[in-house]
Amino acid sequence: MKFLPLNKIKSGMIVAMNIKDFKGNVLFKKGTILNKEKINIIKNNGIFRIPVIEKKAEIKSVSDAAHAHSFISKELLDKSFEKVKDIFEEIMNTGKIDIAKIEEVAVNLTKEMQKNFSDKLYVPLKKLKTYDEYLYSHSLNVMILGSLIGLENGMSDEELTELALSGLLHDIGKVKIPLEILNAPRKLSSEEFELIKNHVLYAKDFLENSGITDKRIINGALEHHERYDGSGYIFKKKGKDISNYGRILAVSDVYDALTSKRCYKKPWTPYKTLSYILSHVNKHFDPSFTQNLVNALGLFPPGMKVMLNDGSEGIIIATNRSNKMKPIIKVNDDIIDLLEEKNLRITKIINYEYIEDQTT
Ligand SMILES: [Fe+2]
Ligand SMILES: [Fe+2]
Repeated sequence: MKFLPLNKIKSGMIVAMNIKDFKGNVLFKKGTILNKEKINIIKNNGIFRIPVIEKKAEIKSVSDAAHAHSFISKELLDKSFEKVKDIFEEIMNTGKIDIAKIEEVAVNLTKEMQKNFSDKLYVPLKKLKTYDEYLYSHSLNVMILGSLIGLENGMSDEELTELALSGLLHDIGKVKIPLEILNAPRKLSSEEFELIKNHVLYAKDFLENSGITDKRIINGALEHHERYDGSGYIFKKKGKDISNYGRILAVSDVYDALTSKRCYKKPWTPYKTLSYILSHVNKHFDPSFTQNLVNALGLFPPGMKVMLNDGSEGIIIATNRSNKMKPIIKVNDDIIDLLEEKNLRITKIINYEYIEDQTT
């Protein structure tokens, strides 16, 4: 990122931090791709220098281009992962959750996501490095996806933090399940599956024993395997009988589980996963929370290689939340916002390539 005087600003550069007018109103959000018109608006507001990412000099990789629109920095994602790992290891040793520590992770992430929740969005998820780290990366990713739904839904600060906490701890009950069952690279026996189901009850015990009294946080974890049509577990609750957080975490949980690599399966692409989720709306998933998730993730997920009607090929790097069909694309060294390039459109999906730090 650089602070450049306006005469050095060129079309195609990306705004690196929100630009505000003298009253403090946001003129252009972080991630906005500048053009002549926007540069003039900035000039007319009497602003002389702005923070930008120079696309050609600084955006070499697809990952860098995507991260210019990310609502969580790579640093905070990595730092949060390390903290979640430490906290979970402590829970395994002591049987207690250090609520203050996990709350700090939830609050820091929620604040950053709220601040950077722009119209143009890339949602980074933590990449799984080793199979035994799945619980940590999954917990973090379910929290991020749940918060994304909460943000789309216009939840209050308080609700967002509670939801984040519920997401981070939704699978904490799994620390009581033997690893050879949890990571079994085979079909589980019905007895083993019954045992795994108990992780939602164990989560409730953990939360209550650690001093969490808020029912909404507890129910989020307790009900994340309930399904909208009553086909889930553990109470076989249906529809709106399942708490809001339970329904939000259910769809977030499935999205991350399917897109993750496990010892018994390859990762699904975000595209295949979204298709699966959309085909299970009203059966497994709440329709409006699913809509929130799809709005934020887009129908053309970052990493997808597509062809445009002018014959050029590019990779999706971010979503336009206002139009799921018009994402932001990196074509060679150029960043193209389909919302603004009215003559361009996607004509073909070529394949899917993982962005360096997406879940693989
Ligand atoms: Fe679970
Ligand atoms: Fe889960």
